[in-house]
Amino acid sequence: MNRTKIKGVGHYVPERVVKNTDLEKVMDTSDEWIVERTGIHERRFGARFEESTTMLAKKASEKAIADAGCQPSDIDFIIFATLSPDYFFPGCGVLLQRELGICETEIGALDVRNQCSGFVYGLSVADQFIKTGHYKNILLVGAEMHSMGLDFTTRGRDVSVIFGDGAGAVVLQPADKGDSSEILSSHLHADGRHAEELAFINPGCHGGVHGNKDKQGYSDNEWDSIFVTQKMLDDHLLFPYMNGQFVFKTAVKKFPEVITKALKSAGKSPDELKLVIPHQANLRISQFVQKLLRLRDDQVYSNIQKYGNTTAASIPIALSEAVEQGVVQRGDLVCLAAFGSGFTWGSVLLHW
Ligand code: COA
Repeated sequence: MNRTKIKGVGHYVPERVVKNTDLEKVMDTSDEWIVERTGIHERRFGARFEESTTMLAKKASEKAIADAGCQPSDIDFIIFATLSPDYFFPGCGVLLQRELGICETEIGALDVRNQCSGFVYGLSVADQFIKTGHYKNILLVGAEMHSMGLDFTTRGRDVSVIFGDGAGAVVLQPADKGDSSEILSSHLHADGRHAEELAFINPGCHGGVHGNKDKQGYSDNEWDSIFVTQKMLDDHLLFPYMNGQFVFKTAVKKFPEVITKALKSAGKSPDELKLVIPHQANLRISQFVQKLLRLRDDQVYSNIQKYGNTTAASIPIALSEAVEQGVVQRGDLVCLAAFGSGFTWGSVLLHW
């Protein structure tokens, strides 16, 4: 069996900075409320009609590929994690392949739809392919362009103040003999009972079978589409929904559980960790997790203050920054952990 290492990493965030005070102008919210509840001061929004999830991913991927010392044509598989794809289908993986100019290689492209845990899930999938020798240069990217689909009115304020745009990418390769960098383990979990507690339900092909039929205004004509209805537009049902307090309560339980599980599997203790990179959901959640695991400030990475929650992109952006800043050196013990919609959650323990 091979061992897998992250050879290259890179990230890209759009230039446009949107401060809390900018949001105050379009909805009933305040800088004070947002900072106190989430820790977020500002986020980045992509350029409308110029950037998209795939375009952000392209820039992050180019950096990761260069950092790995290879060319786009060396990539032999793409894994793309996002909840804000350019198209409902096809997935962003093939669009990224095209943007990177490597369609002639005909390499496979897989889209991962595990929201905030998407990068961690993708890392685990990539790890299996590298370990078994199936692929040698996997590009894994997490990217989001949330700003295109949020409700920037007071009605949507509990959700829309939290999210931001960005992308992060890694290139995974087999570790060389004697290499101190490797993925040690991954731990993936889900609990579908809470699927609708943090969800973007419409448009969709569900037809109300999960119990939300009344609100959608479906026609009795069996040949009419149920994917999107006029009522969905009229009643503003085409935006994400979040049961914030329930998400918070579950997240502060699941993050420590899955980090502890990763450490136990490797026979390590929290004090041996150089860094935990939690999915940047909410600064308060990270602080809770830090306290519960008795970690020092320097052991938990946070950048949500400047980017908000970038969902599948948040861990690779944070990893890329931590490496860039020299916070993490080769061989250091790092735990990546995520929790989000589904609910899905997971962790990856690695020697950077
Ligand atoms: N600005 C100002 N007021 C807001 C607001 C905003 N952006 N969003 C909600 N409010 C109001 C509510 O309407 C409510 O008003 P009311 O008391 O008059 O009814 C009040 O603030 C409190 O709302 P509540 O939802 O109870 O706040 P909270 O303390 O739970 O904080 C979250 C809301 C979303 C910040 C918090 O629940 C949270 O962080 N949850 C986890 C979210 C998360 O991590 N999501 C991503 C997971 S991957």
